[in-house]
Amino acid sequence: MNTLVSDASAAQPSDSSGDSDPMGRMLVIRGGRPLTGRVEVKGAKNLATKAMVAALLGETESVLRDVPDISDVHVVRSLLEVHGVTVTDEGDDVLRLDPSGAVSAHFEEIDAHAGASRIPILFCGPLLHLLGQAFIPDLGGCRIGDRPIDFHLDALRAFGATVEKLPSGIRLSAPAEGLHGADITLPYPSVGATEQVLLTAVRAKGTTELRGAAIEPEIMDLIAVLQKMGAIISYEPNRVIFIEGVDSLRGYDHRAIFDRNEAASWACAALATDGDIFVGGAKQPEMLTFLNVFRKAGGDFDIAEDGIRFRRGGALKPVVVETDVHPGFMTDWQQPLIVALTQAEGVSTVHETVYENRLGFTQALNKMGADIVVHPEGFASPERRVARRALEQAAVITGPTPLHGADVVVPDLRGGYSYVIAALAAEGTSHVRGVEIIRRGYEKFFDKLTALGADFDVVD
Ligand code: EPZ
Repeated sequence: MNTLVSDASAAQPSDSSGDSDPMGRMLVIRGGRPLTGRVEVKGAKNLATKAMVAALLGETESVLRDVPDISDVHVVRSLLEVHGVTVTDEGDDVLRLDPSGAVSAHFEEIDAHAGASRIPILFCGPLLHLLGQAFIPDLGGCRIGDRPIDFHLDALRAFGATVEKLPSGIRLSAPAEGLHGADITLPYPSVGATEQVLLTAVRAKGTTELRGAAIEPEIMDLIAVLQKMGAIISYEPNRVIFIEGVDSLRGYDHRAIFDRNEAASWACAALATDGDIFVGGAKQPEMLTFLNVFRKAGGDFDIAEDGIRFRRGGALKPVVVETDVHPGFMTDWQQPLIVALTQAEGVSTVHETVYENRLGFTQALNKMGADIVVHPEGFASPERRVARRALEQAAVITGPTPLHGADVVVPDLRGGYSYVIAALAAEGTSHVRGVEIIRRGYEKFFDKLTALGADFDVVD
């Protein structure tokens, strides 16, 4: 029986809004039960938030469908509203965005609403086109590395923007004649920097050529959104994107691509708890690399018209994985996978080549009985496919190690999700604190856990 235990009285935990944040401070989880049942994934956190920003570029209203009810979306919504955009919730996960009233916002309002998100940096291009200026507060985002924005600022300067770094953030201004097209080469296929270029180039005067671009499915979906608005964007097989600037853009009507990261998270939960989870809305083409690793690790999956069924196919097996940019194994998938690998019979390695500090979460798993050694500089291994980067780390996971309950504190979004499934897989009771971070990327998280048979209480 899942109860919300607080000063008042016990109640069924729910993600619906109430006086206090239903995500509460802590989950008390009684583990040892497989997760079985069905969950639905909505639009991708890492597309929907960007498509909302893109609405600023349109001269008419936009409609975004399958919008997830997560705090990253709420942050972008309030940032748009402080800039005068009217955002209407039309029900059925549909948002209507009307940019006709867009105005400059005051610093303190922007700062108050920026939250722990990195999305504000993507407001630069649209605000420079719309208002000739922009102020972006210091960014939030998961503490999984330094999270620099040098690629973003270099790109904006290439478009002709003036960038001024202030103690509280950055102020940008466009030249009187407006921003112009640019030739930009990214040192690394950064998702955010690619989005920065796309959202700026579509209304710049002239053509932009972007080399070394990210090509994740969420990027391609953002290109589809911009094309619907009237943008002219083409791309080549070697990560080169061409954008021909246009004088005006109209609103879009778009259904966001599904959230691959959430789908992969629930798949790993099925592996870790020896469960059987149907993820409605998940699609095979965008998850090919994940599905290969899932199968090699001993998982079994069935592709249906309306989703994918994930479960164990027998004993879990060790794997060698390197995170990479698309179409490689996404860095966002490695944390939940590592929890499952603690139950595999043998030694697995996970090279994290995208972020320099995304394996710190494994310490708490060791507290729960796992055997994970992190090599801070990574290590050479015959199977490695990705050219070594200075920022990589590697984890060696030796299993199987039965997990037992422990008290842990959530470090970041995917690490927090991973702690919850580790606690569900463990024998005994765990206390997982700081779970509100999980709300940034997983909508109706408590409702889904309850639907899958998890036994937990929410304690404020
Ligand atoms: C996006 O982050 C996602 N976040 C991340 O998902 C995801 O892990 C990441 O892309 C990689 O796929 C959102 O879309 C909101 P990057 P982003 O720019 O854009 C370095 C999640 O869990 N870099 O591709 O910030 C950077 O330090 C989150 O949903 C620079 O050096 O990622 C990192 O090492 C976590 N300078 C690498 O590039 C820059 O200016 C990849 O970063 C920008 C990035």
